[in-house]
Amino acid sequence: MARDILKTLKAEHDEIRDLFEQLNGTTDRAEKTRAQLLAKIDQGLLPHAKWEEAVFYPAFRERAERDGQKTWAEAVEEHRAVEQTVMPDVHQAEVGTPEFAGRAKVFGEFVEHHAKEEESTMFKMARELFSAEERAALDEQYEAWKQSDEGMAAVAEAAALTGADAALGSQRMQ
Ligand SMILES: [Fe+2]
Ligand SMILES: [Fe+2]
Repeated sequence: MARDILKTLKAEHDEIRDLFEQLNGTTDRAEKTRAQLLAKIDQGLLPHAKWEEAVFYPAFRERAERDGQKTWAEAVEEHRAVEQTVMPDVHQAEVGTPEFAGRAKVFGEFVEHHAKEEESTMFKMARELFSAEERAALDEQYEAWKQSDEGMAAVAEAAALTGADAALGSQRMQ
């Protein structure tokens, strides 16, 4: 099957949805499981969001008509709110508390809203704006970017900003 960036991004949304479902099902006593699930969400979400911001959103914006420009601005703003407020709040809460559970639930709801919007609006438009060849090339670029210095630096910077770096670090040490 031909590569397609839109399929890759959708598949990543689904993986993250599944992790949030698991996280929402945990109790306050399941501290270790919560920390592990949050770290997996961070690991999946940060490269995805940073690449969308660095490559996909600008490429989309360049081709989009007026409706698409609004869709672009909305997506950028949602990323900003999650990075600057929602994720830092989740990471500041103690994992074994109802505060954590509530903040994690809101985090999941933000991500679900955003992912659904991308799939039903932006990706739908992008399917018309980019040829199959272009979507395949973007998919290859995304894979390479994840391993590149540039990509890893962008993810590390976002991890530091959101508080995910401490969580990811402690998961690595376990
Ligand atoms: Fe996004
Ligand atoms: Fe996305």
